[in-house]
Amino acid sequence: MTILDNYRLDGKVALVTGASHGIGEGVAVAFAQAGADVAIAARNTDDLGRVAERVREAGRRVAVVQTDVADMAQLERMLTQTVDQLGEPDILANVAGTTLRKQILDVTLEEYDRVFAVNLRSVYFASQAFVRRLLAREASWGKVINIASMTSYRGFDGSSVYGATKSAIVNLTKMQAIEWAPLGVRVNAIAPGWIDTPLTAGMAVSRRQWVEEHVPQGHYGVPEDIAGLALYLASPVSDYCTGQTFPVDGGFTAGSPWPNPVGQVSNYT
Ligand SMILES: NC(=O)c1ccc[n+]([C@@H]2O[C@H](COP(=O)([O-])OP(=O)(O)OC[C@H]3O[C@@H](n4cnc5c(N)ncnc54)[C@H](O)[C@@H]3O)[C@@H](O)[C@H]2O)c1
Repeated sequence: MTILDNYRLDGKVALVTGASHGIGEGVAVAFAQAGADVAIAARNTDDLGRVAERVREAGRRVAVVQTDVADMAQLERMLTQTVDQLGEPDILANVAGTTLRKQILDVTLEEYDRVFAVNLRSVYFASQAFVRRLLAREASWGKVINIASMTSYRGFDGSSVYGATKSAIVNLTKMQAIEWAPLGVRVNAIAPGWIDTPLTAGMAVSRRQWVEEHVPQGHYGVPEDIAGLALYLASPVSDYCTGQTFPVDGGFTAGSPWPNPVGQVSNYT
């Protein structure tokens, strides 16, 4: 036995929401490659079929659980379908998320409620249902992984509703962690910087340029950048870690480079 064995998820069952593409797909495939059977949830079954194939290619069992996480009845069913097909889950990754790019003065109540239902309410109640199941079977080990954002840390115009949900994720992660520490459930969040996924594909060219200029590494990340940390947080190797939010952002939360091209003018003169 070496420390690398503690990165494995053999014998575990993981449930990943928002697994039909982007970060959720990367996380689901990483979990399968580390040895977990994986239930993949999202609204779109076409894309889920492709992700299911990738989990099978990793040699693991997969359950495709079509779910609108904004629908409370479907959210509850997502857990029971996972149990029916794969057994009791040990790991929950709450990745499903949606965005809204609108100035505060233009946001409607319906838009506000939709984003909060997908990004925050679903995380709250999926986690609650998951931990209730752990308690019912007297499990003493479980992992919850939530997804925050750069908008958890600072303001961006047109991101008020999305940012409010993602700031709340940081706080909810702490609350879940302290209430559930005595149960052996560890809860952590990942705050991705700008990651190339369908969610960011529609960003205006000018915004993309802004990102490339302000992220020290100078480019977007890929879903696997997030999946690596998700695997760490899901596996026993991180068992003493709970209640934290970890940025994976090419250095953005550390600061931004001066606006002079690297290699032409020293940053120090
Ligand atoms: N891509 C980024 O730069 C970035 C940055 C910070 C945070 N995030 C967060 O990461 C998470 C994943 O984002 P992504 O970039 O992979 O986006 P994506 O659009 O590629 O994937 C979003 C996933 O969530 C699912 N989803 C959306 N609404 C749903 C609903 N109502 N019910 C069930 N599933 C639903 C989609 O089907 C999809 O599988 C989100 O929580 C997002 O806020 C992304």
